[in-house]
Amino acid sequence: MWKGLIEEYKQFLPVTENTPALTLNEGNTPLIHLVNLSKKLGIELYGKIEGANPTGSFKDRGMVFAVAKAIEDGSKCVICASTGNTSAAAAAYATRAGIQSIVVIPKGKVALGKLAQATMYGAKIIEIDGNFDDALNIVRQVSETTPVALVNSVNPYRIEGQKTASFEIVDALGSAPDYLCIPVGNAGNITAYWKGFKEYNDVKGSGLPKMYGFEAEGAAAIVKGEPIANPETVATAIRIGNPASWQYAEAARDESGGIIDSVTDEEILAAYKLIAGTEGIFVEPGSAASLAGVIKSVENGKIAKGSKVVTVFTGNGLKDPDTAMNVSTVDVVSLKNEDEVIRKYIEGVL
Ligand code: F0G
Repeated sequence: MWKGLIEEYKQFLPVTENTPALTLNEGNTPLIHLVNLSKKLGIELYGKIEGANPTGSFKDRGMVFAVAKAIEDGSKCVICASTGNTSAAAAAYATRAGIQSIVVIPKGKVALGKLAQATMYGAKIIEIDGNFDDALNIVRQVSETTPVALVNSVNPYRIEGQKTASFEIVDALGSAPDYLCIPVGNAGNITAYWKGFKEYNDVKGSGLPKMYGFEAEGAAAIVKGEPIANPETVATAIRIGNPASWQYAEAARDESGGIIDSVTDEEILAAYKLIAGTEGIFVEPGSAASLAGVIKSVENGKIAKGSKVVTVFTGNGLKDPDTAMNVSTVDVVSLKNEDEVIRKYIEGVL
């Protein structure tokens, strides 16, 4: 039985005899060959389904370790700023470990499913009239002067936990892919993946991918080369104007020979519909940014035809039902509760 990240990867993580055996059996997520899109795009494309983690996003990988280490250090409470997924993961793992969580979120900009999760897992939820960047500044300051452990991705244990996704990709494919495509918000995850690929390559000679990160155009601080005061995008998960791991994202790009590019909301929503409608995989809009980036890069020649590409689907589509219903073009047909009426309709469809 899969034992969760801390146990499975302890030789790659700074685990000590005092690190608690915290887990919700996170990790070990599917890497799915996207057969229909591979054919369409002329590449060998795989999706890493991080929405299959216990709280429905990749955040569980980093959070299990950050919360375990907070407990090891004697903390009784964790705090984070979040566009939604981090807060869900922090709340779940804190509760599992028997400690309190406090989450600070931008009012009106967190997808419904994520808010429902933080509520159900028992977080203290604070909303502010401000964006993620404002919330992160606040929790950074508060955690310096009060006995709460900061579990945003500026906490190095988050990066340690999240790097394990690279190990799984290499193990599934037998070596690193040619390109690793990933959405970029606060830039912690691209930092973590690159660290993971490098560490595995040092031990196993598994090779290194080119790291391709994609920001939403209305929040593309790294692409534009300056912070964005009022970031806006339909992909609320990556609605971030001043990424905390900015310099590490640039290092991942430069060391790997990769790119950081932006995709428009239109491209994000097109990819969002495409992945659900052609492969049966429902991801949240923020996750679709990486597929939008793959499509853009194949079209502009930055991804070579025939190459092996992994795109990271960071979060589950169920987290944001409002966006799904807003972009859906399928109308629900309302019929009489009668055999004959329904039979006729079905015969018309066939
Ligand atoms: N995809 C999803 C679904 C996310 O929730 C996030 C970040 C990212 C991508 C970007 O990852 O920040 O490491 O570059 N969500 C954070 C949160 C900010 O609060 O849940 P990143």
